[in-house]
Formats: sequence, C-alpha cells, structure tokens
Amino acid sequence: MKKIAVLGSTGSVGRQTLDVIAEHKADFQIIALSANSNADLLLKQADEFQASFVFLNDSRFLPKIKQSVKFLTDQDSFLNQIRQEGADLLVLALSGTSAIKPLFYALEHGIDLAVANKEAIISCGNIINKMLSRSSSGLIPLDSEHNALYQLLGGLDRKDIAKIFLTCSGGPFLKYSKGDLEDISVEQALSHPKWEMGEKITIDSATLMNKGFEIIEAHYLFNMPLESIEVLIHPQAVIHGIVELKDGTSLAEIAPADMKMPISYALGYPKRLDCGLRVNWRGIKSLNLEYADKDKIEALKICCKAAEKGGSFPAFLVKADEIFVRAFLSRKIKFNQIVDLLGLALGGHNGFEVESVGDVERAFGDAEAISGNILKEVS
Ligand SMILES: NC(=O)c1ccc[n+]([C@@H]2O[C@H](COP(=O)([O-])OP(=O)(O)OC[C@H]3O[C@@H](n4cnc5c(N)ncnc54)[C@H](OP(=O)(O)O)[C@@H]3O)[C@@H](O)[C@H]2O)c1
Repeated sequence: MKKIAVLGSTGSVGRQTLDVIAEHKADFQIIALSANSNADLLLKQADEFQASFVFLNDSRFLPKIKQSVKFLTDQDSFLNQIRQEGADLLVLALSGTSAIKPLFYALEHGIDLAVANKEAIISCGNIINKMLSRSSSGLIPLDSEHNALYQLLGGLDRKDIAKIFLTCSGGPFLKYSKGDLEDISVEQALSHPKWEMGEKITIDSATLMNKGFEIIEAHYLFNMPLESIEVLIHPQAVIHGIVELKDGTSLAEIAPADMKMPISYALGYPKRLDCGLRVNWRGIKSLNLEYADKDKIEALKICCKAAEKGGSFPAFLVKADEIFVRAFLSRKIKFNQIVDLLGLALGGHNGFEVESVGDVERAFGDAEAISGNILKEVS
C-alpha cells in the first residue's frame, strides 16, 4: 500500500487525485492533505480518507479545523511529519509558487513526486535538474502533455529523439481575431471548452500563456532545446504528446481528455491503474492537428524568449503573469492586455543568473515591482 501526501487537495487536481484514490482504496493510504484556506473541504477530505494530519496555509481559518483533526501549524513541521511517516509519494497539486518549498523538500529527502504545479518547474528549472541528478527521488509530471511525453520518452533511446510536440486544444478563443479579444469578460475567459481547472490556469489557457509555460516546462523536464519543442493545435484534445524520432517515425500518446489519466499513471507507477476512462472513438468525427507557429503567437513568443534568455527570466515571467491574471480577474485590466503587459514587463527586467531560491525570490520581487508600476499606469 502506497503512502500518499496530497498538497493542494482542495483544488481541481487535488480533488481529482482523491477521486482516483477513492476508486483504488486498497492500494493507497492518505497520510497528509493540505490547502490554502478551504478548511471545510479539507476537513471533509481528512475525514473521508482518514488522513493522519493536515496543514492549512491561511491561519485565519485554523479555528475551523482545530478540534476535528490533527493539524500542523507551520509548513516545515508538516513536511517533516510527511517524511517521518514514510511517504512514498508527494502529489504537488498546489497552485502558484507555493509549490517550490515542498518540491525542494521532497528532492532533498528522496521522496518521489507527482507534480502538477508548473510555476515551480519553470521558475527553478535548472536548480531542480541539479537537485534531481543528486536525489533518489523520481519526478512524474501530471500536466497531461508532459505526462504523455514522459510515458513516450521513457521507452526510447535519447539519441533517437528529434523533436517533441505538445498539443493544445486552443482554448475558448481559438478563432477570435485580436479585435474580438478586446471585450472578453472574466466569465467568458473562465469557461474552457475541454478542461475543468482552477481559475489561474484557465485564464492562462485562454491567453495561450499556459502553452508557452508548457514549452518552458518541457525544456527543463526533458532537457530538450527550445527549437526541438513544437506545438500543435488539436481541438479534440485526444492526442496529448508526440515524439518524432530521427528516422522520421512519430509516436503519439492518446487518452481521454481527463486529468484522472495522468494522475492514475503517476499514482500507480510502475503499475497501471484502470480508472474506467476510454477514448470515445464512435463519437469522434475527425481529428485535427494544426501547426502553431511559435514565432507568430505572442504568448508563445514571450515564453520562448524568456526561456532562451534563461536565468531569472522564466521566474520573472511566472510572477508577472500571476499579477496580470489577478488584475484581469479583479477587472482592473482587459483580457487582451494580459499578454501585451507581460511583454512590456519582461522588456523591463535585467536578468541575472539563478543559482538559489534566493535568486528566484529576487526575480519574483523584480516582477512584482515592474508589473505593479505598469498596473498603476494602465488601470
Ligand atoms: N487543473 C488542471 O487540470 C491542471 C492541469 C495541469 C497542470 N495544472 C497545474 O496544477 C496546479 C494546480 O492547479 P489547479 O487547477 O488544481 O488549481 P486550483 O484549483 O486553484 O487549486 C489550488 C490548490 O492549491 C491550494 N493552495 C494554493 N495556495 C496554497 C498555499 N500557499 N499553501 C497551501 N495550499 C495552497 C489551494 O487551496 P484552497 O482550495 O484552500 O485555495 C488548492 O487546494 C497549477 O500549477 C496548475 O497550473 C493544473
């Protein structure tokens, strides 16, 4: 029986992780759960899965859980307890940069990871890769495209690989012109046609920043040069990743568009878990794949530029994006300003080498200062 800790258990990925575990109760024991502020759901989950202990980041909500479940009041003790209880797998379903600390902790202590969070990988890619090379931890990505590529690349000889392709459903505004994007409301941007996700990633999917971030994520996770990573627009979202080999053969991973697929792969690894999902081939009329030009789509261009420059630029971009998405959600800026302002902010950053978490925090601080000034001017 695997001992699992799910961080961010109340979010979209966290809840789906618990759904998969509920279907395979004999295989897993939940030892720890965490959330930011959703104490009610955290308590309900802790009760249902008999979690040994929980952590709630926002202490204002602690009184709600104090009486009902064993809780830890600081993140360090929470992580130490997870290690002491002998966790076999830490699922990182936290949103934003809050995942950095637990990710580093797991790598330092040889705990295996299933990682949905992309902000940590993008901001700290080089540091994580150095740590991974010294660590006994394994890291399985949960993002469906990266999970697909992970599955494909695992069986291949590195020297045979020419390119990798990430697919992209295109989001809700695929066919919109730049003019059409001006009056997109928050509600429209939050309704993704294929995936049910947290607010931040849903907006990133609509602006296509999410796909740009995924390019950076793939660059670090698979140690692939940027010119060998391509994007294909694929509205049916059935093909999640393609690997092109040097002899011209391409291999694709095909699965239902449901996060339970990559989640069950990572939870069960190396065993396959059946979560009952199948591609509905009878319902598919056609499969479309259209090449997305990274030099023409603004969000992809910005992300590739940040990845090319490396150092502090990816971390800067992650934080600036968080700030502009928040500004859009609180209706301070328009939808089509998000990517424009990100380009502007990135132009104002003087990059530096990133060798420690302190450097990453410095990049975040610079993003906060520059993006904050831009927001004051435009909103
Ligand atoms: N959703 C998807 O399908 C999907 C797919 C691929 C990758 N991802 C990535 O996976 C991550 C999570 O996405 P999501 O859509 O599941 O987000 P979400 O629904 O917004 O959930 C975020 C989770 O993190 C918790 N959290 C936030 N800040 C925290 C903090 N400082 N300390 C402890 N817990 C904290 C939240 O707790 P509260 O509920 O209390 O706020 C919640 O449990 C993101 O990085 C996203 O890009 C998501």
